[in-house]
Amino acid sequence: MLDIEARERIIVAIDCGREEALDLAGSLSGHASWLKVGMTLYYAEGPSIVREFKDRGFKVFLDLKFHDIPHQVRGAARSAALAGADLLSVHGCGGAAMLAAARNGVDEASQTSGLERARLVAITVLTSMDQAALAQVGVEDPVADQAARLALLASSNGIDGIVCSPQEARPMRELLGEDALIVTPGVRPAGAELGDQSRVATPAAALDAGASHLVIGRPITSASNPVAAYEAIVAELTAAQS
Ligand code: C5P
Repeated sequence: MLDIEARERIIVAIDCGREEALDLAGSLSGHASWLKVGMTLYYAEGPSIVREFKDRGFKVFLDLKFHDIPHQVRGAARSAALAGADLLSVHGCGGAAMLAAARNGVDEASQTSGLERARLVAITVLTSMDQAALAQVGVEDPVADQAARLALLASSNGIDGIVCSPQEARPMRELLGEDALIVTPGVRPAGAELGDQSRVATPAAALDAGASHLVIGRPITSASNPVAAYEAIVAELTAAQS
């Protein structure tokens, strides 16, 4: 297990509009280390929302899931890193040249700005896709085989890790080794509402399966006291790590 402090492992998904996002950031400041900005918030607010979170002291996972020709992805990764993102996502199925271009983009941003290089994680198979959906796009292999193929493609082209369900984290950890980032959404503290998530694990179980970082949204952001909900998860992870 990577030796990472519990607060550094939790990425709070901020899936709401600007006012609520800034309120949440204000509440979580001094507690949470990471926030995740997805497409909905980013396409409404642009790079300024990343800078506003950075100015409040957060690390930012900018989850835009790049997938385009290599030249475009290189520029996207460079721009996103220059906006201040610490972690970015890219689709593994975009292929080796596109993955390497994403890495080149974040390398260039780091050389230009002097900032630490943004890390990259690859989406293997979207968890919304099942075997039938994969077959519709021409992939006949089992989902697990396709995910493993894309994880290896990503890691051999300069990508730092992957995003996967906690239920796939263990084989992915075995495949990618101990230094890879393994970021898992679908995390629910015991007793929390599932919402639209179905294949879930508790924070401690996700950690035990090999996750390095946990993306957790509504159990924190929809709680009557988001800070208390966040701190309860920190306590659970700290206990699981000791
Ligand atoms: O609110 P909740 O904890 O379900 O939020 C999870 C976050 O992780 C959301 O931002 C969602 O878009 C993202 N996500 C997910 N399942 C995946 C990939 C990403 O829930 N397979």
